[in-house]
Amino acid sequence: MNLNSRRKLKPKDADRFADAEPALFRELAKVVCATGMLPQKELHECWQMANVVHKTFPESLHIADMAAGHGLLAWILVLLARSSEIPILRTAVAVDINRPKSADALAVSITDRWPNLVDAVHYVEGSIDAVIAEDGPGTLLVAAHACGSLSDRVLLAAITSRCPVAIMPCCHSLRKQAATLSSLALASGLPPSAAAVGNTASIDQFRIDALAALGYQISEGSIQTDITPFNRIIMGKPPRETSHSVPVHQVSGSGGRVKRLGEIRAFEKIQSLNVANIEEAQALSKRPSREWLRSFDLSYWVDDEAMGHRIAATLDFLTQRFQLPQSSGHSAAPAPVDAAMVANITIRDQYIHPTSQRLAFTYRIEIRSSTVVITKDDAALLRKKLCRALRSLAQMHHANFALRGE
Ligand SMILES: C[S@@+](CC[C@H](N)C(=O)[O-])C[C@H]1O[C@@H](n2cnc3c(N)ncnc32)[C@H](O)[C@@H]1O
Repeated sequence: MNLNSRRKLKPKDADRFADAEPALFRELAKVVCATGMLPQKELHECWQMANVVHKTFPESLHIADMAAGHGLLAWILVLLARSSEIPILRTAVAVDINRPKSADALAVSITDRWPNLVDAVHYVEGSIDAVIAEDGPGTLLVAAHACGSLSDRVLLAAITSRCPVAIMPCCHSLRKQAATLSSLALASGLPPSAAAVGNTASIDQFRIDALAALGYQISEGSIQTDITPFNRIIMGKPPRETSHSVPVHQVSGSGGRVKRLGEIRAFEKIQSLNVANIEEAQALSKRPSREWLRSFDLSYWVDDEAMGHRIAATLDFLTQRFQLPQSSGHSAAPAPVDAAMVANITIRDQYIHPTSQRLAFTYRIEIRSSTVVITKDDAALLRKKLCRALRSLAQMHHANFALRGE
């Protein structure tokens, strides 16, 4: 069997695992084949890494699989604990900036085969940079092939919350990891120069030294090299008591960026994710993964502050009744269009003209939807409708407010 094959296992491949040992691996392989979406390499990689990690942390009750991809590592760690001689009801949270379709397919296949695992793993789409674990040593952070700086960021998250940690790093690059290695140096009190040698082994050694300097008890393991050359597993148990408080580090680097597509902000960023809180993870795992957001400003000359606030209330009233045209955007899910959009009005600023002393209010109109793409035209149409409606109201009530710049 070619252990490092990137070919996706399909249902017809299940027969190839008929004699595989142990029985749990055989069952798991069949389930992965049934999913039809995971490469063979990942099955062996995650199985072997999970076994090494489980052996080192057999009593760990809760796991956070960082940069989880399909989430297979999390599922296997849960399975191993629950099927051990003295079963442990281990749970896990999988975190990745992008939850692939295969993660959902895998969850369905696994819970079909092991129904008692329903709700054992929750997958949250978010950045590992937001991760904290309020129960510290109670949550084991694991990461398989969190590339380059991601592995450093997993270590930083572990250090910050004083979690046990197990990483199998890959894609080492001194240049790309400069910021996160400096953060590790800062956190551990090692001189930054200690990281300034660039090969894979020395970067890993620096990671080990940083954990050790903080009192972590280090152990190492590996998986077969014919699965991957990046087969080294670094594990650390935090010291029982810390006399010094661990600084919370702001990790600089590429993490946590909000993707911008023109004016549309896709992906609502989670600022802080407490992976120790299973209810929180469960709630976040159900949120829509993408949200479409557009905003524009409107500025009005007004008589006084009271009028400025009345206009805000009117804008609020009008936008709640605005419907996205059926033709616009691509509906990702069949939902009533008006229920799909949420509008929010805020007063951005008040301005007094230096010579005329005239007062102006600027309003930020924000529209968002998780089911319908809000186009630029939708935003422009809403703007036009709001301006027209306010103009008619001003005429009707002989009110003295007017759009700035007209
Ligand atoms: C090489 S894959 C490893 C996936 C999985 N652990 C495995 O072994 O199959 C790296 C993963 O990191 C994820 N990733 C990249 N940046 C991230 C971030 N800031 N926070 C969380 N996940 C991130 C990617 O989406 C990708 O799934």
